[in-house]
Formats: sequence, structure tokens, C-alpha cells
Amino acid sequence: MLTAKKDMTFSNRYNNRNLVISRRDSFNDCVSHSTTPVIFSLKNEVGGLARALKVFKENNVNVVHIESRKALHRGDSEYEIYVDCDSTDGHIHELMALLKNHVDIINMPDMDGAESVAPEVILSEIPWFPHTISDLDKCANRVLHLGAELDADYPDPEYRQRRKYFTELGYEYRHGQPMKRVEYSESETKTWGTVFTELSRLYPTHACREYLENFKVLVEEGIYRKDSIPQLQDVSEFLKARTGFQLRPVAGYLSPRDFLAGLAFRVFHCTQYIRHSSDPLYTKEPDCCHELLGHVPLLADKSFAQFSQEIGLASLGASDEEVQKLATCYFFTVEFGLCKQNGKIRVYGAGLLSSIGELKHALTDKAIIKSFNPIETIKEECMITTYQNCYFLSDSFEEAKEKMREFACTIKRPFAVRYNPYTHSVEVLSNVRRIADVVNELKGDLSVLSSALEKLQS
Ligand SMILES: [Fe+2]
Repeated sequence: MLTAKKDMTFSNRYNNRNLVISRRDSFNDCVSHSTTPVIFSLKNEVGGLARALKVFKENNVNVVHIESRKALHRGDSEYEIYVDCDSTDGHIHELMALLKNHVDIINMPDMDGAESVAPEVILSEIPWFPHTISDLDKCANRVLHLGAELDADYPDPEYRQRRKYFTELGYEYRHGQPMKRVEYSESETKTWGTVFTELSRLYPTHACREYLENFKVLVEEGIYRKDSIPQLQDVSEFLKARTGFQLRPVAGYLSPRDFLAGLAFRVFHCTQYIRHSSDPLYTKEPDCCHELLGHVPLLADKSFAQFSQEIGLASLGASDEEVQKLATCYFFTVEFGLCKQNGKIRVYGAGLLSSIGELKHALTDKAIIKSFNPIETIKEECMITTYQNCYFLSDSFEEAKEKMREFACTIKRPFAVRYNPYTHSVEVLSNVRRIADVVNELKGDLSVLSSALEKLQS
């Protein structure tokens, strides 16, 4: 009934309409669809409407209702077009970007007809971001450090050839495929064994409790051992069973925007190559020792996994400047973060947990340690080839997560996003109807929790 009333309100507002095409059989039919309303004004060209509607068709977005009205916005066009479309396939954002080539105004109203996004905001000007987990295929190949730089860093032609093989593995991978099992050479396995052995000696006195618990399980399950480099597929399955995180192979460094976008979907982009055997204890790039020994054990921790995902979600559609701030926070927490445990300082940052020299250094009196506070932390310079100038300490992951949440709220973005774990997609909460849908879902969860509490109290 509520939906019917709202729809009536909408129709009343459009009292100047002169074109109505609808495939709704009833108001209830409207409720059963996940529809997105879009308003645009046509350029003064013959056939403009046909061209605009073709964009919907080409993006497989089903139009269920069309109306025209006298233009409410300033512009050349006398009329505006309202389109209600089925957004279940998640291609709306791409559609909006393409539609802008044919129309003058694009906006998304809520069910009452009032624009839920500020009128001056044109959604197609928001930086593109993946909406479904398979959209990550578009981000994963934008690798920053390859080619000439690689040739300069590694004079060994055999090693460069090997790196090309791993680059191709990363480029060829598509979401949903099993990750290719790699036959690592004797030399590569020896390098892994050296790093694994040296770091394993330090972990009991340097790594945080959550890291140690999960590292132990990885060893007990035979996934981590010094005489074999773990296969990404096995590690990914391990993580998926614990926190829903999964790995996908990548050829090298991604931009902060693309890397953080993966985290929003609980996907961790992971290199598969290993550092050069001439210096097993040093690499300036993230290699499989860094990913597997530094990151993976903590991605198996529920609280840490959520923390990582929240940073990723905050980055979607944010400006370059805001993404850079988030990336700096990520750097000084997930890569180089420290926390307090039982009165002692322990390490949870992957950059430290995969570097023998800096792991020792960070817990000595020589290291400068400051309290983690995003507003201050974003001013710090990220060091890539030397030890960090300072490290940031949190009381716990929970405290770091809370501070990051507060910081994420300060990021300027005309909408909120929410991850839907059932469809592996990001929902843009840009209108009242979508927010109401989420409230309804949460009601179900709250009812379960309330019932569980009652049972505990009885
Ligand atoms: Fe890393």
C-alpha cells in the first residue's frame, strides 16, 4: 500500500506529462522489480529520444516505464524524460556515462520525485568504479610497474623472462576462473624457504596474536611450509572459508583506486612471482612472500577482513584526492600498522611482517611511534625503498576500524554504498527506495538478534 501511495504522489507531480509508456501491470508489479528512476532532458536534435533509448537497450537495461514532462531544470530543452528501468543487472553506472553523450541532464530521483542526489551533481562525472565483482576484470590489468622499469631493475634475462610469464598469468585471469597452479623452480622455492624460515623465527615475539593464530593454522593445514611456495588457489580457498576474502592474480602494482576497489568486494589482488634469488631478504616490489606471509594470515581474521573491506568501500567513487588519503591510511595500518596487546607493542602491518630488517627495527627504541589518527596520519609521507620515518599505533583493530569509519564519513561523496554479499555487488544508496530496501533487510537481521538475546535471557 505504501508503495502505491508513493507512486500516486509521483504521478501527481508529473501532472504535465504528455507521454506515458509503461510495462507495469500494477503497482505491486513495480514493487517486485528492482527499478531505478532516471531523468534526462533531450538535446534539440531529431531522433534524440530514440538514440537515448538505444543506449538502454545496448546496455541490457530493461525500461519498464517512460514519461515526459515540461522541463523543470534550466536548459535548452522544453521537455524532460523520466525513465524507470530495471537495474538488477547492475549496469546502470555504465549506462549513465554513455547516456551523457546523447542527453543534457541526467539525474536519479527518489520515489517522491525529488532528486536524491544534489542537482548540481552529475552522476556520470563521478569516477567510474566496479559495481559487481566481475567488474574487477577491468581494474586488474592496469598495472603500473612493468616494462622498461623491470628491465632496468633486473639485468638477469632469465628472471625477466620468468616475470613475463607471471605478467601474462595476471593479464589472462578473469573472475571466477580457477587460478593457474605454478611450477616454481628449485631456485624460487629456495628463496621462499629462506624468507619463510627467517621470518618464522621473528613472528612469536613481533607479530600480533591474530596473525599468529592464523599463521599456525596455515602451517598445520600444510598450506604453508618452507619447502613449497603456496599456490594462490589453495590460499584463496582457505580465506574464502574463513572471511569470504579471495585472491586474484595480478601482474604488479595497481593504482590505489584499483587496489582499494578490490578490497570493497573482499578481493585481494596478489602477485605470484617471487623476488630475485640474489637477495632473498629484500624486494622493493610486493612479491608472493609479501602477499602470502605479510597479508594472508590477517585476511583470515574476521575483524581485520571487515576493516580492509570498509577502506575499500569508502574509496568507491571518491575523488582522486580522497582516494589518496585512504591509500595513505591503508599504508600506515594494513601495511605498516602496530597495535597494543597485553601491554606490548605488536605488528599487524604486512609490509613489516614480510621484511626481516624492518620488522626488527619497528619494535626497537629507534623507531618513532605515533598514535593512529587518520587526520594526522594522512599527512605522513609513505616511504617505498627505505624504512618508514614513523609508525602508527592503535589499541586494537576495533579502535583502528572505528577511527577509519569516522574518517570515511568525512569523505565527500553524494551517495553511500553497501556491499551485497549475496550478489557480490555494490549497491549505491542514492535514493529513498534503495535505503528503504536495506532497512527492510536489516529488520530481518535485527529480529534474529533480538530473538537470540531473549533466548539467552530466559
Ligand atoms: Fe601489501
